[in-house]
Amino acid sequence: MEKEKALIVDDDPIVRDILADILSSICGFRIDTATNGLEALENLRNKKYDIIFTDLNMPKLGGMDFLKESIKSHPSIPVVMITGISTVDTAVAAMKEGASDFIIKPFQIDKVVTIAERIIGERKLLSKRNADTDQEASIKRINAELFKKLQEINILQSLSLELDGIYNNKDIYEKISDMATRLLSVKHAFFGILDGGCLNIVQSTEFQKKEIKINGSLYENVIKRKSCSIILYDGSEPYNGFCSNKEILFIPFTLKDEVFAILGLYDKPDQTAFTDDEIAIIQTFAKKASLRIENNALYEVFYNNLINTLKSLVISIEARDSYTKQHSERVAIYSLQIAEVMGLPDEDRDAIRFGGYLHDIGKIGVRDIVLLKPDRLSQEEEAEIRLHPVKGDEIVKPIRFFPKERDLIRYHHERFDGSGYPDGLAGDSIPLYVRILSVADAYDAMTSSRPYRPAKEHEVAIQELIKNSGIQFDPEAVNAFLQTPIGKGIRNED
Ligand SMILES: [Fe+2]
Repeated sequence: MEKEKALIVDDDPIVRDILADILSSICGFRIDTATNGLEALENLRNKKYDIIFTDLNMPKLGGMDFLKESIKSHPSIPVVMITGISTVDTAVAAMKEGASDFIIKPFQIDKVVTIAERIIGERKLLSKRNADTDQEASIKRINAELFKKLQEINILQSLSLELDGIYNNKDIYEKISDMATRLLSVKHAFFGILDGGCLNIVQSTEFQKKEIKINGSLYENVIKRKSCSIILYDGSEPYNGFCSNKEILFIPFTLKDEVFAILGLYDKPDQTAFTDDEIAIIQTFAKKASLRIENNALYEVFYNNLINTLKSLVISIEARDSYTKQHSERVAIYSLQIAEVMGLPDEDRDAIRFGGYLHDIGKIGVRDIVLLKPDRLSQEEEAEIRLHPVKGDEIVKPIRFFPKERDLIRYHHERFDGSGYPDGLAGDSIPLYVRILSVADAYDAMTSSRPYRPAKEHEVAIQELIKNSGIQFDPEAVNAFLQTPIGKGIRNED
């Protein structure tokens, strides 16, 4: 460790020598000396000192004036006044001017040592406290970084939840850019899917959707490297949609180690470069989104297989009863027509499209002798038939991702006035897509022949619907049905 350095200022060479001797041999200081205040100021300009000892009475520049100058130019260096017994009062006055202490001639060695060590000790403590202040600043900085990271992790978590709720990859593709800008607080992003030799930009916060040829473009390298790249787009590449001279962070999305899409981010509000932390968090997001996309693709295959299996099941049920042949298909078609008139959202229409087919799937649990009975049903048989919505619900219940289809299966025999079955729901507590299906189901049942009665005419069935509007059926659904092609009697005979 480097020794402390002391400056001794005294015009008396004996005093200088004695003091230098004590401070160097006992305290281990390195010593410089000066014979007056002016000389000492010159020393201060050229060298660093940890402590100064100065006489009061000196030629050229006395101790008091030197003290003032020293404190002005080097306030952190402690100054100890050397004084004779006759000038103790002046030394005390010097302390009021900022001197750290004084020693009285002739020197008592232990007093000199004690004062020197005390002052140096205090100086060390002070510098440690200054270092602590730096530490405080760095803790504040680290805390701010941690807070930012925590915020990013929170956003990442909420984005993950959001992604988990999107089953359609098209919807994910359209949201990735917005999600990424939220995660890294950048102004702009774009997301493109690789399609043949092109990058098909599906969403961008700044420019139009379009196709970019990969060959020779800056994307080529990103695809080859399969890792995040930061590229300064200088405009020399073929036009890519954004302005030149932008630092763009490219994040490739991979499935089975193959790049299938690229996310680009640029324009940080503070204009700083992307940090390693930011790149790490966006990579985590990309992995999460890629997994979700892969799951959705698998789910779509699974979903389509399942739909086909369930449809076959419905066809086999309908095949048992020639009178209800293609009933489910027609109910789905009529319901969709009503949904269109009423402007239902796509997800409800999707549920109707599939749930319409499935609504009577519970009939698989009804015995042939009851289902196919040509005569009117007994009370017990009626009760068995009335169980089909619950049985159907039980069939699809394990398939958690069909909640609306389940509603259609379970509630399609509920009535608007609450007198239906199995749960006696009424009015708005029956979902709208179910109220719609009830109208379509009743119309098709009435206009189809049954073993025990012929089919009703279209007009008769319509009158029946109108008569029961507000009782069995939702009036709005009945009104909408009247506006559909089938409600107007326009029928493509199957
Ligand atoms: Fe039914």
